[in-house]
Amino acid sequence: MQSPATSPAAWTAAAVLLALVLLAQPSFNLVAAQDAESLAPYVPTPQEVVNRMLELAEVTSDDVVYDLGCGDGRIVITAALRYGARGVGIDFDPERIAEANANAELQGVEDLVTFIQQDAMTADVSDATVVTLYLLSSSNRKLRPILTRQLAPGSRIVSHAFRMGDWDPEETVNFPDDRGNMRTLHLWRTDGRVRP
Ligand SMILES: C[S@@+](CC[C@H](N)C(=O)[O-])C[C@H]1O[C@@H](n2cnc3c(N)ncnc32)[C@H](O)[C@@H]1O
Repeated sequence: MQSPATSPAAWTAAAVLLALVLLAQPSFNLVAAQDAESLAPYVPTPQEVVNRMLELAEVTSDDVVYDLGCGDGRIVITAALRYGARGVGIDFDPERIAEANANAELQGVEDLVTFIQQDAMTADVSDATVVTLYLLSSSNRKLRPILTRQLAPGSRIVSHAFRMGDWDPEETVNFPDDRGNMRTLHLWRTDGRVRP
């Protein structure tokens, strides 16, 4: 008679458990992140526009600011520096994450901010109170059900340049940047309704 430990069912259970443990490792997340679909090319938001995004969201030290596709981390680093807000930046590009971590250290805010190499489409943003985006309209649209499902009511979403399908923003501002180029920012506030 087979002992329970050597039965095929026990081996199958052990193999499934091992696979789950391996899949949970950061190295697997990195592979998944690098294979992710690009939501936008890397184009940093000018600093004065970053400032306006955070002002539009009325960020305070009570906020947790997530930037999906964080580039060099400037939005969450600025939120930490100017308001003492905690922040999380997510980018699928390892070079951007390395830059963001170096910038956070340079600015002395590494205790307030975290940068994660991950596909933004798989991010858990449920503890964010503010989400910033500088992606594309199609990418914002793809993120909409995720954001409206996960974010607590009253959370703010600010997008540089791009809208989010037919969900009308609460506020839109247009202004010239320091080089005279017109910039547009949109603000939405979640209300608990999931928008597919
Ligand atoms: C237009 S840049 C914005 C950078 C930064 N948020 C800012 O405003 O300065 C878009 C960023 O999204 C990142 N990105 C594109 N697709 C992504 C994905 N699927 N998951 C995570 N990051 C992604 C790019 O690597 C790039 O850094």
